[in-house]
Amino acid sequence: MCGIVGYIGEQQAYPILIKGLHRLEYRGYDSAGVSMINADGVLSVYKSKGKVSALEASVADKDISGTIGIAHTRWATHGEPNAINAHPHFSQSKNLSLVHNGIIENYKSLRIELEKNGMTFCSETDTEVLVQLVEYTQQQHGCDLYRATQLALKSVVGAYAIAILDKRNPDQLICARKGSPLIIGVGTNNGAGKGEFFLGSDATPIIEYTNKVIYLQDEEIAIMNRNGDLKITNLSNVKQTPQVHTLQMNLDELEKGGYAHFMLKEIYEQPNALRICTKGRLNIVDKDVLLSGIIDHKEKFVKARRIIICACGTSWHSALIGKYFIEEAAQIPVEVEYASEFRYRNPVIFPDDVVIAVSQSGETADTLAAIQLAKDKGAFLYGICNVIGSSIPRATDSGTYLHVGPEIGVASTKAFTGQVITLFMLGLAIAKEKKTLSEDMFHMLVDELQKIPDKMQWTLDHNKGIDNFAQMFTYARNFIYLGRGYNYPVALEGALKLKEISYIHAEGYPAAEMKHGPIALIDEEMPVVVIAPKRGMYDKIVSNIQEIKSRKGKIISVVTEGDTIVKGMSDYCFEIPDTRDCYVPLLAILPLQLLSYYVAIAKGRNVDQPRNLAKSVTVE
Ligand code: M6R
Repeated sequence: MCGIVGYIGEQQAYPILIKGLHRLEYRGYDSAGVSMINADGVLSVYKSKGKVSALEASVADKDISGTIGIAHTRWATHGEPNAINAHPHFSQSKNLSLVHNGIIENYKSLRIELEKNGMTFCSETDTEVLVQLVEYTQQQHGCDLYRATQLALKSVVGAYAIAILDKRNPDQLICARKGSPLIIGVGTNNGAGKGEFFLGSDATPIIEYTNKVIYLQDEEIAIMNRNGDLKITNLSNVKQTPQVHTLQMNLDELEKGGYAHFMLKEIYEQPNALRICTKGRLNIVDKDVLLSGIIDHKEKFVKARRIIICACGTSWHSALIGKYFIEEAAQIPVEVEYASEFRYRNPVIFPDDVVIAVSQSGETADTLAAIQLAKDKGAFLYGICNVIGSSIPRATDSGTYLHVGPEIGVASTKAFTGQVITLFMLGLAIAKEKKTLSEDMFHMLVDELQKIPDKMQWTLDHNKGIDNFAQMFTYARNFIYLGRGYNYPVALEGALKLKEISYIHAEGYPAAEMKHGPIALIDEEMPVVVIAPKRGMYDKIVSNIQEIKSRKGKIISVVTEGDTIVKGMSDYCFEIPDTRDCYVPLLAILPLQLLSYYVAIAKGRNVDQPRNLAKSVTVE
């Protein structure tokens, strides 16, 4: 949830670290800090509460001459967001500084033990325990920092990605990980005894300098040397052979490209993102679906007694749409589980179950733990993720990447539609193998699915003006979102989008559930967003709208182009092109994303960095 950047080489470290922190700020933004070994050999630590810009201002008159450094942007877990609790943390002697992502679960007992042995603490964080533990271990064993870190980490329970500087050794940068991602970038200046390494909790701070990366594995520790040497071992000091990967990421994907916010850019990117996602997978000529992740393991899917999908947040909503489609098309029962609940139950898992993890980041701690549990129980694991090389794809037996490009806005938009279309392709691919659809129906569904990106573009082009309309709802304290069938998960997702970036309370309901309680909430001040496409249960939803109208609720509807009945009953109406009932979510969500964006803007919210949230939830 926090972000780490590191650098060692011949360049000045500070500009690389600060730029990296700006790129990582979407991961956490309550405080930030930087540590360098400067030209005079002094190990400096500068930290401040708030955004990275506050840190920059506070560092303006400081020595930033070092060519080795580490930096951190924080999302508080232990200890309130302030400069003292911000990372990096010094060890007691101030010889070491350390940054950390993750949670040290046994930090209290470690701290008590260290205090008994004379170590003193400045902060309330679990991270300071780590740096003191490493220093204490080094003092006790009289070993080098690398060995001390290995030994110290053996007594740590929890998740960590760490980077450490030692002022007595300005030519080495040490890092280690377990449960939290860490990537080493191999600089292009390496060679002839010269070396340059970059470090990041994801690839975003690195890609500007190199596309050659090494994904550190769990319980691995690395030492990067200024002379270009890199050593990686596990905690038992057994040498590991690093695999260098070439990243395909493009720097433009990490910029706002003229949009006011990443969220807005990502909303408008969706038609093209989905074209890329389906490229080579939806065959327009033969009207076929080719998902290599399924083809390679088709027996597992054909024989699956059941599919269980584990996910969190927005990914859980896309999973629910996937359930409806897979059950309908491939006739396999599907259960959708909140990963955080699943992991702590004792779920029944059969050896012929397929467990699918859906996750944009591929790093969500609960989803990762859920699939590890399923793996232990013998299930076949499939990952649907966006971030290439992240933990979930590496932990699963097979899977499909979304390929929608980096999603930086904290509120998920293009990853949601990417997940939904991937689940549709997956459902179709299984249906093909199981022959559960007639040939005509299969071809028709493939044909219509490949038209969706163009229909998304139409939807975005024809729903301008939401910005003005959204102003009217800044007064609202609550919203209700209603949908039926495939559009019930859209109602949930629309409500989540509004909640997380505008801080207006919103609830999604299956429309027919209204009369079982929530209808009591309706009055003239309650905006009710209804997804009411022409197909599906149109007449039923018209009746649901009547029930709300007669209680004076304000109706905002999403209707099929040309609809007059629901339009006539609505205070405001968004139009989408006609499509198959099952594919409506891919179109209906677009105006709802824009609505939440513009309501949040009208309320003056920071949509890319909403309060209390972080993009990737790598802690429980
Ligand atoms: O990276 P993941 O898809 O696993 O993340 C799951 C949720 O944390 C995420 O979807 C969250 O709900 C978003 N902020 C929603 O916009």
